[in-house]
Amino acid sequence: MSDARTIALQYAHEHRDQFLEDLQEFLKIPSISTDPAHQSDMMQAAEWLVFKLKSMGVQKAKIFPTPGHPIVYGEYRAAGSSASTVLIYGHYDVQPPDPLELWQTPPFEPVIQGNQLFARGSSDMKGQILATLAAVESVQSAGRFPVNIKFLFEGEEEIGSPNLPAFLDKNKNLLSSTVALNPDAGMISADLPTIVYSLRGLDFFEIQVFGPDHDLHSGLFGGVIHNPAQVLCDLIAGMHDSHGKVTLPGFYDKVRPLQEAERNELSRLPSQEEFYYKQTGVGALWGEECYSIVERVGARPTLEVNGLLSGFIGEGQKTIIPSSAMAKISTRLVPDQNPAEVHQQMLKYMEVNAPKSVKWTVKLLSSGAAGITDRNQPATIALEKALESVWGVQPVYKREGGSIPVVADMQRYLGIDSVLTGFGLPDDNIHSPNEKLHLSPWKKGIDALVNFFYNMEANKEIDQK
Ligand code: BES
Ligand code: MN
Repeated sequence: MSDARTIALQYAHEHRDQFLEDLQEFLKIPSISTDPAHQSDMMQAAEWLVFKLKSMGVQKAKIFPTPGHPIVYGEYRAAGSSASTVLIYGHYDVQPPDPLELWQTPPFEPVIQGNQLFARGSSDMKGQILATLAAVESVQSAGRFPVNIKFLFEGEEEIGSPNLPAFLDKNKNLLSSTVALNPDAGMISADLPTIVYSLRGLDFFEIQVFGPDHDLHSGLFGGVIHNPAQVLCDLIAGMHDSHGKVTLPGFYDKVRPLQEAERNELSRLPSQEEFYYKQTGVGALWGEECYSIVERVGARPTLEVNGLLSGFIGEGQKTIIPSSAMAKISTRLVPDQNPAEVHQQMLKYMEVNAPKSVKWTVKLLSSGAAGITDRNQPATIALEKALESVWGVQPVYKREGGSIPVVADMQRYLGIDSVLTGFGLPDDNIHSPNEKLHLSPWKKGIDALVNFFYNMEANKEIDQK
């Protein structure tokens, strides 16, 4: 007779087409959290998840309204009070698809081409949510569930999770768990399963510079009136020095230095240089001197200009001094930088450097701390073994450059750590046109998560001996 794990894996294999159909249905909902025009789509995506959870027999599946987009919660507590509880995290919101004209197929009409599924959110992260639900469903099909499960899906991850900390704080009992499983990270390559043990934090700023109270004729006023677009460019240019370092005062003071052992370990990861050239089409790489690519992206803080707006940008020409200029600027933060302090550093930088000829404002749009997780916790070992049993190679451990603020928030408010993985690849075009999901690692990922749940049960037995 087959054991439960074998039955569950067989179920997963037999139902792959169904899982894929579910994913495509979910991807058709344009759940763009940042765009108020999509508010009802956000609700529809949340309801879709509740419906899906209910159809899987998940108890108490329901929507919790927030001042922003709703949170979806559910629980499956069949393993008894002595078993571990895994809190499955996901976000059902996606990034805006623009620029639309660069998509080869419409972003919310999923299509499979060869072994890839194209759609906004396919990799980040509706595909990862559905892989996890597929694994849960497969384990359920084999009878008794080895661990208790709670589900927490938010709709505001892509806008910095503004309402999640308060929800975690208010619902500590409801959410109490042994560990969180967060499949919102990715893999280094299709044949290298990856466990992410660190994420960067983030401060996102909108900076406005105001000059004259209306646009002026550049011939009549140029040379007398300081141009706010020029001022903003000067300010932005001054935010880095010639060594690629960020110049906000005190920016590096709290950065936890990389230890030699970790530097050695990171240096053994496959070289990424070629990937960056191929994926981006640039002619040269750039960054903070004296740090490798892996270190610069994962373990060092950075500052980026995400967007700029000022003056006349229509076709043709118009000779003006614009009255204002705006930039969206983000910093990626690492342990132990404090996002509130970095906000102060940005204000200080502006106070010191902005000329008297303009007025300015700095708005903090979102903020989240870096997260670093315990690599020796039982759930990480369970995941490592699960990935290894499917891919046949030992997973690598990686620091990730992206941010998932919930990791630090869960440590702070729920006192639980996360295990982070995911089955997206670096060339998935997340946040870019033509986002896609490679189906082969995605299918393996479902098997790996099935194994993870059984390994978590085995862990518990080891703990109790
Ligand atoms: N899933 C990503 C983060 C990520 C990407 C982790 C690749 C690991 C590998 C997440 O959805 C994301 O994009 N987060 C935003 C958060 C921000 C808006 C606070 C980010 O990093 O820009
Ligand atoms: Mn994202």
